[in-house]
Amino acid sequence: MDLERLKNLALEGLEKVTDRTSLESWRITFLGRKSVLAEFLGNLGRFPEAERRQKGIKANAIQQLLREAYGRKFASLGTSTAHIGALDITQPGKKISRGHFHPITMTLRKMIEIFRSMGFEVAEGPDIETEYYNFDALHIPSWHPARDMWDTFWLKPPIDMAKRRREISVHQRLDQRTSAWLLRTHTSPVQIRYMETHQPPIRIIAPGRVFRHEATDARHDFDFWQLEGLMIGAEVSFANFKFVMESFLKQFFSPDTALQLRASYFPFTEPSFEILMSCMICKGKGKMTGKKCSVCGGEQWLEMGGAGMVHPQVLRNVGYNPERVQGFAFGIGPDRFAMIKHKISDIRFFRSGDLRFIKQF
Ligand code: DAH
Repeated sequence: MDLERLKNLALEGLEKVTDRTSLESWRITFLGRKSVLAEFLGNLGRFPEAERRQKGIKANAIQQLLREAYGRKFASLGTSTAHIGALDITQPGKKISRGHFHPITMTLRKMIEIFRSMGFEVAEGPDIETEYYNFDALHIPSWHPARDMWDTFWLKPPIDMAKRRREISVHQRLDQRTSAWLLRTHTSPVQIRYMETHQPPIRIIAPGRVFRHEATDARHDFDFWQLEGLMIGAEVSFANFKFVMESFLKQFFSPDTALQLRASYFPFTEPSFEILMSCMICKGKGKMTGKKCSVCGGEQWLEMGGAGMVHPQVLRNVGYNPERVQGFAFGIGPDRFAMIKHKISDIRFFRSGDLRFIKQF
């Protein structure tokens, strides 16, 4: 066994090591339990006394030297650039991932920003409503067939209704007339709440979550968003509405966005309209890759919401004089806006909690 040769072989090998992985195999080869050196030291007993001592000292010294060289190499690989040759600069860079808002939140923020620029203020109302605000005050009494337009999640009354009545204000107590509780089916009750506590002129939007007791599909969810609008004054007209909605759509999407108003019916407006916009998923063709477009269902136009002139009875319900003031109201669907903007084909993705979906925005 030529110990001197072994030492030189080991040191030469160590010279060529450029990363921790090859360093580890070097260590196993030259300093491991099964290395030549370890075996040699283990078998020293074969040699006669005098030779054993001399060879032992020499082998131990080499082992010590190699261990130190190993230690220096290990440390240098951690911090120095000696291993830079092993860096693969052709590898794609790692994307630094940052948190961001949900696509619906981003959409709502954008919508609010545009309406704010047109002088609209943001108003809010509760998700849990009374039948009075959600229906009656909006001119939809319990016997009205139009109630079927809103499949409702009715709630059990709070545990002790009598106690609760004593707790709430006189003003609210009046609204317990029909006293049933529900998850609001639209944001229109915010119109009532706002008009009850403010005098015209009024220019508000009310974004919020709404709930419908109905089956879901690519275009309908049972928990979604609405953005309500209300403008009341002495001379507010439907022409004003058209201008506001057109400017909004053009700012939100693009200047060539097409708006269509179709005669419709809502109990709280007269006349009433459906707000439609050309489907941007299928580019108004109704078809995508040979199949019916799953967003507009082949209709070419997307229903974005409803609108109309506030019904005189609604104005009376909040104590306004319909001879003196009038105005328009509208309700649009932020989910729809997000879907069209980002070419999302199914509304149910938004609340799916699927990060593969969320991370794309
Ligand atoms: N609340 C209606 C719905 O959920 C949408 C709507 C239609 C709101 C007409 C309005 C309006 O303010 O004027 O279907």
